[in-house]
Amino acid sequence: MKLQLNEKMQGDFPVVIPAWEDFDLNEVKKLIPASIFKMLETWISGNEFSWKKDSIEHIHFTNTKEDRLIILIGLGKIKESLNYQLLQTLFAKIYQIASQKKIKELNVLMEHWITQFEDTEEFIRLAAQTFTESAYVFDTFKEKKNDYLLNKVIFVSEQSVESMPLVVQNGIRFGEAVNVAKQLVNEPANEMTPRKLAEMAQKTGNSFDFEVKVYDEKKIASFGMEAFINVAKGSDNQPRLIVMHHKGDPNHPHDIIGLIGKGLTFDTGGYNLKPGEGMGNMKNDMGGAAAVIGTMAAIANAKLPVNVTAVVAACENMISGRAYRPGDIINSMAGKTIEIISTDAEGRLTLIDAIHFALKHERISKIIDIATLTGAAVVALGGIRTAVMTNDQSLFETLTEAEKYSNERFWQLPTDEEYAELNKSDVADLKNSGGRWGGAIAAGMFIKEFIQDHPWMHIDIAGTAMTDKPKAWQQKGGTGIAVKSLFYLVKLLAEKK
Ligand code: BES
Ligand code: MN
Ligand code: ZN
Repeated sequence: MKLQLNEKMQGDFPVVIPAWEDFDLNEVKKLIPASIFKMLETWISGNEFSWKKDSIEHIHFTNTKEDRLIILIGLGKIKESLNYQLLQTLFAKIYQIASQKKIKELNVLMEHWITQFEDTEEFIRLAAQTFTESAYVFDTFKEKKNDYLLNKVIFVSEQSVESMPLVVQNGIRFGEAVNVAKQLVNEPANEMTPRKLAEMAQKTGNSFDFEVKVYDEKKIASFGMEAFINVAKGSDNQPRLIVMHHKGDPNHPHDIIGLIGKGLTFDTGGYNLKPGEGMGNMKNDMGGAAAVIGTMAAIANAKLPVNVTAVVAACENMISGRAYRPGDIINSMAGKTIEIISTDAEGRLTLIDAIHFALKHERISKIIDIATLTGAAVVALGGIRTAVMTNDQSLFETLTEAEKYSNERFWQLPTDEEYAELNKSDVADLKNSGGRWGGAIAAGMFIKEFIQDHPWMHIDIAGTAMTDKPKAWQQKGGTGIAVKSLFYLVKLLAEKK
């Protein structure tokens, strides 16, 4: 994909004209061939096209000299500031139209409306990113692959960007980092085993330049990750512990942001077996792992000046003669014993060992865990917002700041001490389920027992890791949720240091 900034339109490619409601066509007169301009002027006044937000028109003009498709896109009132959200939606829409019509080259007039968005470099980077995200389709297992490609987009403007190729490349790679997370979630569990997930992390690390270490079941046992092992032991697919490093701030070796992603490559529920309809989508139970792998890619790509270590305890929750049972009392790496109320509350068991490992062996100083953890989070917020808990309000506030760049949304749940009571057991230090009520919060509070008072934020993506309502930049399936938000969170944290 090539993106260019150019003072003039090129070729006889279709032309996209995005504009505000007060737009006067004369503003772009000098850019449009005279014969087309006349027809366009007549068409717009005849059809009373008003450039209202989200209005779109395709007009095909033909005469002896010209044969051209013109696409008008309304941006709404000029007072609505030109933010990331509007831009992302617009770029995605442009891509969607282009792909529907199999248009491979495109002119987009921008000089007349870009003025509100100060940073042209960011504009171009975001265009490249959004086109890349929009172009993702999951066709790995189809004989007939998607063969559409948007080759070239010419943004018509007098603005300039110092190093166009670099900016475009950065945008494309950022979009690819999001797509990595989508792909990991989309691949079914018979393919995406713990071993394959670890291989994919390694492959992504090679491609985006971050370090990846993988530990097998023997190593995991030697670390004493008892809770993790108990979840994993029912499956013939052996667990993997995946550790990823980005060392961007060697001057502060003790400041390490830890990203911990839930990596259940499949969750049957174990002996507390899920009913059929609840099990269908459980290949997405490594959505947290996908998010941290994608985020590491984005962080490495941008060479953020910050140290980040990501840890994924990857395994599969199955039933067999070796599987753990309800009522079992198990140990954890931290040494706290846990009564198993439900083998289906497995995510928190893998997460607390991953967190303890990251504190003990990787010396992380901040903890951000992300997981498809509870059905209760889905009940509370549906697929729109992602649930968050924290013991450090500034972390959540920074995540809220990141929302405006990521176009993803979060909502905070409480951490009152009373909720911790739900996890108290009569026979062990803790139990792994506090029952139905407040289920998302109780799960978060369970994890909070293992953070050793470090700044911590918990992100429950059970409702948002996958979607059946496609958006223009996001097909059905894995959403790549939180890659962009975590990237901007880390970036903002680095800037605040
Ligand atoms: N992976 C599920 C949570 C989930 C539900 C993810 C729906 C995506 C969509 C998790 O392991 C789970 O089963 N949680 C249980 C916990 C309960 C047994 C305390 C749940 O939410 O029902
Ligand atoms: Mn479960
Ligand atoms: Zn699960």
